[in-house]
This record gives sequence, C-alpha cells and structure tokens, in this order.
Amino acid sequence: MDKLLIGGSKPLNGDIRISGAKNSALPILAATLLADEPVTIGNLPHLNDITTMIELLGRMGVELMIDEKMCVEVHANTIKHLTAPYELVKTMRASILVLGPMLAHFGEAEVSLPGGCAIGSRPVDLHIRGLEAMGADILVEGGYIKAKTNGRLKGAHIYMDTVTVTGTENLLMAATLADGKTVIENAAREPEVIDLAECLIAMGADIRGHGSSTIEINGVPRLHGCRYNVLPDRVETGTYLVAAAATRGRVRVKDTREDILEAVLLKLDEAGAHISTGPDWIELDMKGARPKAVSLRTAPYPAFPTDMQAQFVAMNTVAEGTGAIVETVFENRFMHVQELRRMGAKIKLEGNTAIVEGVESLTGAPVMATDLRASASLVIAGLVAEGDTLVDRIYHIDRGYECIEEKMQLLGAKIRRLPG
Ligand code: EPU
Repeated sequence: MDKLLIGGSKPLNGDIRISGAKNSALPILAATLLADEPVTIGNLPHLNDITTMIELLGRMGVELMIDEKMCVEVHANTIKHLTAPYELVKTMRASILVLGPMLAHFGEAEVSLPGGCAIGSRPVDLHIRGLEAMGADILVEGGYIKAKTNGRLKGAHIYMDTVTVTGTENLLMAATLADGKTVIENAAREPEVIDLAECLIAMGADIRGHGSSTIEINGVPRLHGCRYNVLPDRVETGTYLVAAAATRGRVRVKDTREDILEAVLLKLDEAGAHISTGPDWIELDMKGARPKAVSLRTAPYPAFPTDMQAQFVAMNTVAEGTGAIVETVFENRFMHVQELRRMGAKIKLEGNTAIVEGVESLTGAPVMATDLRASASLVIAGLVAEGDTLVDRIYHIDRGYECIEEKMQLLGAKIRRLPG
C-alpha cells in the first residue's frame, strides 16, 4: 500500500488549479444511463472513484469512450446487464446512484446494498422509499436491491425525512423519465445537486426549484444526448485553503468558484485569513500569522459541510485558542482525532463535539488514513508538524484528491509518495 511522506513546518506558497467535483461527476456519470443518445461529460477529475463508476458502467456492457483529457462519451443504449455487482459497490457506496436511472430507463435494476462505512451507518432507506412511492416494486434479497416497474415510473409527492444528497439525486434522476409530476420536499440543496439538475436539463429534462428544498420535475418520455462539464470541486478547493491557513502560507486556487464555499470562507476569515477572490479564483494569505481557533457545526448545504470538518479540526490543533467542532451529519466522523492526538494534538471528544485546544506545534509521526477527508486532515497536520509524518493507507486520498502530492509540491510542500 502506498504511503505519503510529508516533511513539515513550511508555509505553503503558490498557485494551483482545482479539478472537477467528484460528488458531481459521480451522479452525472450515472445520469448518462437515462439518455437515448450519447452523452459527453467533461472536466472529470482523475480519481479512483471516477474510474470505479466508469468500470461499473463498463461492466453493465455500456459502451464508453474516454479521451486524454478525461472527457467520457457514454452510449447508455448499449447496456446489456442491469446489475451493479457487490465487488464494485463495496468499494464505492456512490454506486447506488445507478439505481434510479437504470430503473427509470430500462424498467429494472439490481444494485448491491452498500455495506457499513467508516464514517457512519449510512442507510439507503430513503432512496428505496422514494422509488416505491413512484410505483417501483422493490425487494431486498441476498444483499441486493431488486427493483422493477411495470411500464414507466409514476410521478409522486415525496417528503424526505432527512436531507440526503445521493437520495435526492437518485429520485431526481428517476423522476425525469416518470409519467407525470414529481415533487421532492426537503430536498438536498448542495451545489452538486444543482449541477446534476443542470446536466439533466441539458439532456431535455423539465426540472424547477433545484437549489431550493422543493424540487419539481415534470417527467418526459425520453432524454437526448448533450455535452456537459462538471463544476469545480468545492471540497478540494477548501482543503487547499485550509492547508494554507494552517501553515501560515499564501495560496491561490484557480478554476474554482467562491459562491459555493461561503460557509467555509467565512470560517477562514474568522481564523484570521486575508481572502480575495476573482471570477474563477480564490486567494488566501495568512501574512505569516498563526490561525485563530474557530468553532463550527456541520449541517446540510448551505451550512458548513461535513466534508470540510476534519480539515478544520487539523487547523485548530495548531491555532491560537480553543474551538468546538460539532458533527451533525454522520455519527462516526471523528476517526482522525485519534491519529492527530498521536502527533501531539490536544482534542477532547464529547459525543458529537470535538473540543480542540491549539498547541504551538505538532510533531511528525506515522499515522493511518481511515477515510477520505480524515486523510486530508492528516496531510494538513503533516504539513504543519515538526519532523516527518508518514501517512499510511492513502488509497483513501486517491479516491478524492487528484494528484495531491504534485499539487502540494507546486505549493512548495515537502511531500513524496512511497510505493508500497
Ligand atoms: N441517510 C438516511 N437514509 C438514507 C440516506 C441518508 O438516514 O436513505 C442519512 C445518512 O446516514 C446521513 C445523512 O442522511 O446521516 C446524510 O447523508 P447523505 O445521504 O446526504 O450522504 P451521501 O449522499 O451518502 C454525500 C457525499 C458525501 C457527503 C455527504 C453529506 C457523494 C457521492 N457523497 O453522501 O461525500 O459527506 O453527501 O454531504 O455525493 C466525501 O466526498 O468524502 C463524502 C463522504
């Protein structure tokens, strides 16, 4: 297993480009299954999760063409097997996103039930209930969700008990080809849901209200081909900005958008960062100062994103003062705390709150990545620590951060991949 060796105590300084958003690219690739004609998706990030989704489509017999710029052309009508097998779903929960589109377009779908997960139990009951409300017959048997519909799905009025991102996306995709009108109440408002809706509209779908908590979809009989570029990754953007703040550095991130990062930028401003923005860039400059500790509470968009929680915990470990970080989205998303403590961080866990008391400096240590964003927090900790940090199990990082060591090197970091 590859490891990352990080030499710390050096402010980050420089410019980098942000990749396309993983959590937009995954539902959009699944959405290509809805069209009758080829769909071309651009600005896909080069990540293991994207490769897994492409492999999943390929396993179903779908013909795909990928060019050197990671533009993928998908011909959904060439599909041969309406199954998402366990071997792939177990490596990536987002495989569940093919359920809605396959069922709506081809009348049938079998998708392995995703298993446990490092950050929480993460059930998919709301995906299943919503599709049932649209008239699907669903049986969970032998570890698989087996869904069928007699003719087209039917439009329905659906109230989501919990705000769920992929749940909203699955139902949104299914509703585009349903007969009649679907209303999704208490829908997720994440920028990635909006991006998916915009791509579906480019394919001929009739959708209103995306970005608000009520989405209305008037089903159409078919969707056509289109070309679509996925939006920039707000979590990758935020991660590099936090890394700059923690190391007292200056970083400009390009090809990104400030309007989808408001909650994160406000907290960085509170930490003492000087932030300036342009049409497609954000610059953060600490002017050499130590960050101030911040307190925050994660919640669905537009509140502070759970996917940025671990990185802020890492920044707080070396900040001035004490910050309380409350995680409300996932019940077990503090796996990084144990590892950060091994580097000298002072963190108390009380239920779903991490109370982080800033220390002057961390010390490098061998640490282990447990999930994607926890890994990012360990990289940030490695960059600020005195001495070397060796981060093990970095396959988690490769799921969500394109070329992390090259981008960090461009910012002057001492970071090297050790093949294992
Ligand atoms: N939930 C249910 N029932 C459901 C679905 C969700 O109870 O049927 C609960 C979950 O257990 C959780 C809450 O609802 O407590 C919210 O989970 P959500 O469904 O929104 O999460 P997700 O759709 O599985 C996406 C992202 C995650 C991100 C979360 C929250 C993708 C592919 N994944 O997951 O991204 O943390 O939304 O914003 O979009 C990451 O990129 O590192 C990552 C984990």
